[in-house]
Parts: sequence; C-alpha cells; structure tokens
Amino acid sequence: MTKNEIFVSAEELERQRGFIPRVRSLIGEEKKYCIQTFGCQQNEADSERLAGLCVVMGYCKTESLSEADLIIYNTCAIREHAELKALSKAGQLKKLKEAKRSLITAICGCMIEQEHRRTQLSKSYPYVDFVFGTDRHHALPEMVYTALTQKGAKAHVSSLPHNEFGIIAEGLPVVRESSYKAWVSIMYGCNNFCSYCVVPYVRGRERSRRSEDVLKEVENLVKMGYKDITLLGQNVNSYRGDYSFPELLDRAASFDGEYRVRFMTSHPKDASKELIDVMAANPRIAKHFHLPVQSGDNRILKLMNRGYTREEYLKKAYYIREKMPEAAISSDIICGFPTETEAEFDNTVDIVEKVGFDMLFTFVYSPRKGTVAAEMEGQVPHEVKTARFARLSAKENLIAEGINKQSVGKTFRVLSDGIVNPEDGIYSGRTTQNKIISFSLPEGFAPEKAAAGHFLDVKVDHAQAYALTGTALTKD
Ligand code: SAH
Ligand code: SF4
Ligand code: F3S
Repeated sequence: MTKNEIFVSAEELERQRGFIPRVRSLIGEEKKYCIQTFGCQQNEADSERLAGLCVVMGYCKTESLSEADLIIYNTCAIREHAELKALSKAGQLKKLKEAKRSLITAICGCMIEQEHRRTQLSKSYPYVDFVFGTDRHHALPEMVYTALTQKGAKAHVSSLPHNEFGIIAEGLPVVRESSYKAWVSIMYGCNNFCSYCVVPYVRGRERSRRSEDVLKEVENLVKMGYKDITLLGQNVNSYRGDYSFPELLDRAASFDGEYRVRFMTSHPKDASKELIDVMAANPRIAKHFHLPVQSGDNRILKLMNRGYTREEYLKKAYYIREKMPEAAISSDIICGFPTETEAEFDNTVDIVEKVGFDMLFTFVYSPRKGTVAAEMEGQVPHEVKTARFARLSAKENLIAEGINKQSVGKTFRVLSDGIVNPEDGIYSGRTTQNKIISFSLPEGFAPEKAAAGHFLDVKVDHAQAYALTGTALTKD
C-alpha cells in the first residue's frame, strides 16, 4: 500500500466541496445543526470536523434537539452500554421527525461500522435518513444534499480497512468545542486486536497522518491561543509518519509560548524509554502518562492478546516514576474478562497497589460481537464482574486519596477552566497531571487572569481522592 492510497484524493474533496453551495441554497437562512457524541476523544475530534462541515454548509449550532434541522449522532461501540445509549437516543428521533417533517437525521461513528447494527437501524429506525462510517466524514455535504433531495434511508459505509476513496481527509474545516483545548488526531485505526476490543473492526487498520500536517495543525493552534493540545491515536507509539512518535511529540511541544501537549493512548507493549525520556526533558509535554494495563495477571494478559507481562508493565511504570516523579500515571482495567478467577483478579488489585495509579478507569467486561473474547467459554457472571469492579474502585479511592494528600501545601501550574460557582467565587482548572483542582482567588487577584484558558499558580489546601482544592497565588 502506498501512502497516497490512504488519503482521500484532492478530486474527491473537490467534488464534496461542490455540494456545499448546493446545500446552502437549498436550506436558506437560519437552519440549525445538533451533533451529539457518545464515544471517546477520537469521536469528539471527528464530531468537531462534522461540525466544521455543517457550518460551511450554512447551518448554525444548537444544543437543542427540538430546534435542530439536522441531527447527527456520533456513536461508540466499545461497550454494550454505549450502543444501548445511542440506540435509545435514535429511537427518540421518531417523535422529533414527526414534529418537524423537514428534519434530517443521521447516525455515524463506530457503531455504524458493524453490519448487524446497520441492519437493525435500517429495519427498525426508518426515520433515520442516512448512516455513515468512520471514514466517510468528508462526504457529509453529499449525504446531506441527497437527504434533502431524495427520500429514504441510505447507508454510506466503505469496506474497511481501506477503500478506493482513501481514508484520511486532510484540510476539512473544524469547529472546536473549546477555544483553548484541542484534539489533534495523528492516526486512525488499530492493529492490535486485543481479544475483547471492537476498535480494530470498527476503525480499521492503523494509518498515520503526515508529520508535517500534524505539526502545522499544532503550530496554528498555538498561534490561535490554544493552551492544551492532545495528540490522539489508539496506540500513538505505533505512529508511522516522517517522524517517530517521540520525535513528533517533542516537535509539537517546541513552538513558542506557554502551552501543554498531551497524548492518548500509549500501549504498554510499545511505550518506549525514548518516549519517557522525551517527556521528562520537555516542560511543555504534560506530565501525565495514561498507560492502560487492563489486568495484572499474566494468564489473562495473554488471553487478552496484550503483548506484555505484568513484570514488563511494572518495569515501565517504575521507569516513569523514576524519570518523572511528579508525573501522574493513570490506567484502564477490565473486570471479569472471560475465565478470570478471583485469584487472578487479586493480581490486578495487586498491580494497582504496586503502581499506585493516580487515576483509574475501571470497566466491567462487555462481550463485543465478532471479537475473540466474546466467543470464549467461561464468561464471568454479571454479579461477579460488578463485585470485582466495586472492590477495585474502593481500593483505587484509597490509593488516589493517599497520593493527592501528598499535594497539600504544594503549588501547581493550573490551566483554568473558568469560574464554576460564581456565588462562592470557585474556579476550576487542571494541573499538568490532568487532575482537576478547584480554587478561589485571594483578595486583589484580578479575575480576568483566572478566566478560562489562563495559566496560574495554585497552592493546594485540601485533597480528596478525586478533588484538589486550593488558592491562587499572586506572583511576587
Ligand atoms: N486504545 C486504547 C483503548 C481504547 S478503548 C488502549 O489500547 O489502551 C478504552 C478502554 O475501554 C480500554 O482501555 C479498555 O479498558 C476498555 N474496553 C475496551 N473494550 C472493552 C470491552 N469489551 N469491555 C469492557 N471494557 C472495554
Ligand atoms: Fe482496542 Fe487494544 Fe487497539 Fe486499544 S490497542 S484500541 S484496546 S485493540
Ligand atoms: Fe468508542 Fe470508537 Fe472510540 S468504539 S471508544 S468511539 S474508537
């Protein structure tokens, strides 16, 4: 496969641009779009590109479904719960469509890449005008135009992992949710096939954006005043552009000005010393390492097809702690993977204690159609999975509280998210470790210096498991 084949061609992008004025003249003034996102940061980044296309087609944004003339649900398939939520929201489109006959409804995202879900939607949700997959975003103008001019639900899904149109569309307009925090996708898809995970099936094989395109985007964001930029990929370590991932990260964090660069997600099997060293050496790289371990038991890790052992994982985690004692390490855990015994789960609790994660995202295992684990014998009963989940959550609360208590009296550089409780003058922000901190301003502190998107120093007064509280410091 040559590089060009993964990029949507200039001709196809031009053809799509041709639909934009046609939609504009069909819809006239004051039409509104509403996009709701159910998935991860990748999905949010995709939704921001869809929003960009909606705006150039002449739609304005609304949060209200009943006000909208175009509704797009961007779905997720990672766990059953995510799909059920999206399907239930899709069911509500019926009423909205009855109330407004001209309403256009679309469902896109990872759930749509599964054939059984597409069949279900076309059979049981006839009020959905069109559905489209994760590599058809750039074709939104054509899809909206078709929906405006022809009746009947249509599916726009290309055969993954690659198709004749290419998969990465550069240069699409973007409407970002925030004026100071930004997502930058650096790659799409995943090749790892962890046995529980649907992502490789719904997002296709890995493909990387060109380093120059990524760096140009980051540079522009910095120039526009963005302060917190997250490079996104399912496994950023396997980024294959002109630069390796550590080099790309370092360069992305080398433009002028005060800002932070984060990344999500680093796979433990590929997280390299080089990456950790680059992070430690560059002050603009946020000191937060999300390193999903999933399980602390070697038999389960093998069954999960994760490609590392608990010992290898621990070695990397300890190296991070050694090189960057101030860094936060967070992780993901799956409770109740098929055949997991109580003793094996004890190993997970044990690794959580050993590393002492600052933050933990704990999930109950959810069988995903088409994955290897869903077909395994020895599925763990629901109540056992939830009991393990509860046990681990309680343990993590204690660990996180213990870590956070050590922050009391220390000063952190905080990126403000602005005032959250105007009555009490309480602001909220994030540290470089990505921890949430609420703070108040001392007398005489100019509130505009604590507005959303500003950096300031905050001294921690109190700490709980998931909350730090402090006071802003006036610079002397
Ligand atoms: N690419 C990332 C993970 C993306 S999915 C990585 O490899 O780290 C985010 C998290 O969802 C995973 O880390 C995993 O903990 C969880 N997850 C994925 N599939 C799941 C399933 N079938 N059931 C429960 N949790 C799952
Ligand atoms: Fe899923 Fe594993 Fe890929 Fe992460 S690395 S997206 S868990 S298959
Ligand atoms: Fe969900 Fe797709 Fe992200 S399945 S977690 S939205 S990549």
